[in-house]
Amino acid sequence: MARPTLELVADADALASAIAARVVAACHHAVAARGRFVLVLAGGSTPLAAYRHLAERHDLPWERVVATWGDERLVPRDHPERNEHAARKALLDHVPIPAEQVLGWPEGTDGEAVAAAHAEHLRRQLGDPPSFDLVLLGLGADAHTASLFPGTGAAEAPGLTLAVRAPAVGERVSLSATALGHADEVLVAVAGHDKQGALARTLRAEEPPDALPLTALRPRGRFTILADEAAAGALATTYERDGDAGSGPADGVPVEG
Ligand code: 6PG
Repeated sequence: MARPTLELVADADALASAIAARVVAACHHAVAARGRFVLVLAGGSTPLAAYRHLAERHDLPWERVVATWGDERLVPRDHPERNEHAARKALLDHVPIPAEQVLGWPEGTDGEAVAAAHAEHLRRQLGDPPSFDLVLLGLGADAHTASLFPGTGAAEAPGLTLAVRAPAVGERVSLSATALGHADEVLVAVAGHDKQGALARTLRAEEPPDALPLTALRPRGRFTILADEAAAGALATTYERDGDAGSGPADGVPVEG
């Protein structure tokens, strides 16, 4: 099983700097190797400070960046709850990414139709299966990632995309665990005390993937959970933290079940 490595930073500010540093490094690497950088953005609030850091990076080759999202809400494109809207305001509106390289989920209220149309769009733009350079994700207090919610069967769904109905949030659309794993690097950002349980359970990986969706991912490259000390809780005592978040945290030690 592909297991994530845990890396710790002190707090939310250090987390934002560390995420931004990883995006910058992955971007340079991918553009040098393949001429473009395909980035999957996470929803939720945790990555927004990192997006704002990246918005200042006018030195990046933004014209070579392709951006899409791991999951989305079934609301109009300019709706404040839409992940795309939040990322546009924090990042994409401030950098010169060509509009046709921003691959948002289609609008619509029929989750299955939206999921199918997005899968087709990704295949046309990025190949079949679509391949990503860096996938950014978050972790919910219930252990969901993207919109793969525990107890829904979503973590083990076939195909590239799916509609997910979860009692707490209604219907959403998401890339599947398989699609999220077609990546050179997966980086999961986790902050705050309320994530302690989900983070510890995900690292222990003693439950089935339907309960811990992140454990269903099989990235072909680096797989990291980047957490602040509040989210790590007791785990923080067993990990060394790198003091210089600006240069990226030191490699952590994989937790053995
Ligand atoms: C979303 C997400 C979701 C998110 C987690 C963590 O669309 O909301 O993609 O999986 O990453 O819920 O959210 P926070 O960063 O707000 O804690």
